[in-house]
Amino acid sequence: MRTLVTGGAGYIGSHLVDRLVELGHDVVVLDDLSTGHLTNLGQAMSNIRFVEGTILDAKLVDSLTSTADVVFHLAAAVGVGHIVEKPLSSLITNTKGAENVIESCVRHGAKLLLASTSEIYGKTATMPMAEDDDRVLGSTTIARWGYSTAKAIDEHLALAYAQQGLRMSIVRYFNSYGPRLDPRGYGSVVANLLRQALDNEPLTVHGDGTQTRCFTFVNDTVEGTLRAAFDERGEGLVFNIGNNQETTINDLAGMIVAKTSSESRIQHVSYEARYGKGFEDTKRRVPDTRRATDVLGFTAATPLEDGIARTLQWWRTTHR
Ligand SMILES: NC(=O)c1ccc[n+]([C@@H]2O[C@H](COP(=O)([O-])OP(=O)(O)OC[C@H]3O[C@@H](n4cnc5c(N)ncnc54)[C@H](O)[C@@H]3O)[C@@H](O)[C@H]2O)c1
Repeated sequence: MRTLVTGGAGYIGSHLVDRLVELGHDVVVLDDLSTGHLTNLGQAMSNIRFVEGTILDAKLVDSLTSTADVVFHLAAAVGVGHIVEKPLSSLITNTKGAENVIESCVRHGAKLLLASTSEIYGKTATMPMAEDDDRVLGSTTIARWGYSTAKAIDEHLALAYAQQGLRMSIVRYFNSYGPRLDPRGYGSVVANLLRQALDNEPLTVHGDGTQTRCFTFVNDTVEGTLRAAFDERGEGLVFNIGNNQETTINDLAGMIVAKTSSESRIQHVSYEARYGKGFEDTKRRVPDTRRATDVLGFTAATPLEDGIARTLQWWRTTHR
């Protein structure tokens, strides 16, 4: 297959590119390197075509899509921290940029794999979160909800075009972690805590640390993405791609301290100190994974302890 990966120099995108190359596909990457790094593509670079540019450049997106069979759209301003700090540019990237990609797929008959997020569900109390569940969001005056809203617009657009013939699947990622996580990027909690533990700094946990997440090892994130893109049974559907092992942030921090043999202690800091007044967090986030299992035969199988050990091993070999 001829594939285009937007955001392919990013953390998840570069792992996806590695797998696509391994599987023998042609790969073109479009990335503006705003949070991605060419070093992420080190292994794959000689087997792909890399184009530095933005998804806001509609002509460029159109021309690259015109020669693709499948477009993996991962480029985005990612994560809540980013969105709170740069709400306007993030919204524009995540809406107009995505619109350029989606509409190019429509024009050229390419299949679209749209990367979305568990943030879609907002602060719902319904657990586990199933793909057709209600979304529960806060006010538009709270910037963090702009990420969820922008991704939801992308999903609506893709679903609406699907009714007119666009072949597409949507994946909602749940807290992916693994090698190439960038602690200076969008602020993944695993990356932040690992860096702090290895630097023997206090591990900063927001709130009381009893909030939970389901951490998904990146190889699983990529496997779910590939199945959603290539398995025809997934066409037109939305899939949660996540592990359903629920972990509190306190337990995650404790595990990281133990695995790194760090002397760091855990320090609880208020959300307001990190994200400003009015920040709202989601207390639990657990995917209902039945659709991905039933339709795609996919399960995110890597236990957190193993994934953290593999991430730590990568960290130690690249950050010394
Ligand atoms: N990491 C997670 O746990 C997670 C969770 C939910 C959803 N997602 C989604 O997965 C996708 C990949 O995220 P990631 O975690 O790998 O983050 P990332 O920041 O590493 O990857 C995003 C990539 O997009 C590129 N990019 C940003 N704006 C661009 C633009 N205007 N034009 C071209 N390229 C641009 C960046 O340079 C980067 O390489 C995103 O769509 C994100 O919303 C990730």
